[in-house]
Amino acid sequence: MPDSANEPILDIRDLSIIYPISIGTVHAVQDVTLSIYKGEVLGIVGESGCGKSTLGLSILKLMKPPGRIGSGSILYKGTDILGMDDRTLLDMRGRNIAMIFQNPLTSLDPLMSVERHFIEAIQVHEPRTGVPECIERAKKILADLGIEGNRLKEYPYQLSGGMRQRIMIGLALILHPDILLADEPTTALDVIVEAGFTELLIRLHELYNLTVVLISHNLGLVAQMADRIAVMYGGRLVELATVNQIFEKPLHPYTQGLMNCVPNILLEQKELNAMPGSPPDLVGEPTACPFAPRCPKAMDICRSRVPPLKDYGGRRTACWLYEGGV
Ligand SMILES: Nc1ncnc2c1ncn2[C@@H]1O[C@H](COP(=O)(O)OP(=O)(O)OP(=O)(O)O)[C@@H](O)[C@H]1O
Ligand SMILES: [Mg+2]
Repeated sequence: MPDSANEPILDIRDLSIIYPISIGTVHAVQDVTLSIYKGEVLGIVGESGCGKSTLGLSILKLMKPPGRIGSGSILYKGTDILGMDDRTLLDMRGRNIAMIFQNPLTSLDPLMSVERHFIEAIQVHEPRTGVPECIERAKKILADLGIEGNRLKEYPYQLSGGMRQRIMIGLALILHPDILLADEPTTALDVIVEAGFTELLIRLHELYNLTVVLISHNLGLVAQMADRIAVMYGGRLVELATVNQIFEKPLHPYTQGLMNCVPNILLEQKELNAMPGSPPDLVGEPTACPFAPRCPKAMDICRSRVPPLKDYGGRRTACWLYEGGV
């Protein structure tokens, strides 16, 4: 659980990431300020295109071209990642902060055995570690993942989708990072494998004393694992609260809309709700609340001014509805 008295392990301050394109500038991440505490699981949710992956990648200073930092800082234990030189970054990636991606098939090299993947992952950071030791360490991590050691000799095509995804986690954890970033880690898996994967991630979080940032468009999945949830809309953070707070009383009308889209077996729901409208175009700076055109509670001010993210006793939201308090 997050302990607000702790120093944040990651402190994102006023972060903006832009993609200059021919017709203007895409503001993929805008003014995001967010502290992540040691040992917590933070879920980042929002619809497609709201900037989740751009935010996640920026934590490793891995913006997709032509993305670049507009402004801000990302402090990892007090040092700004965005100011690190290439050598320091290479050393930090994987060793301190590791990431697993949505599609494990494209992330594994089809010409390399699982064993070779592990040897390279270790030797990139520790060139003096011999092959036998690398294999021992790989076997140990595979055991934690519930995978037999003899699978090390296999190639990616010989593994199921769920198995490949577990290998990806093994590779991410082999150097015992502090922080694991997982960007839509279950999108390529079927629902049964997804359920097992979620349980595994919860177990590894404890076992490896990890801080986890879990990015997903699936609020239901995130709720099973996360301590807190950050909701993004149009590149901005629009709500940040504990899972209980979000489920008991979502403040932002966008979060309320997302909650209505989560299937609930306790309710007699005949149809799944869908949120009308589509996410905003991120080209250019917004001059109004980006959610206003879809918001059932929009007021005049929402159409003329961007609401700031405000603190309400530890939880935060960016909505003009709460100018007088929550
Ligand atoms: N290479 C690029 N060039 C220009 N714009 C981009 C590029 N990559 C992403 N964007 C834009 O940045 C915004 C955020 O994209 P991002 O991939 O971070 O969203 P996301 O929330 O991860 O979406 P998804 O759920 O589909 O993965 C989108 O509007 C997208 O169109
Ligand atoms: Mg994404």
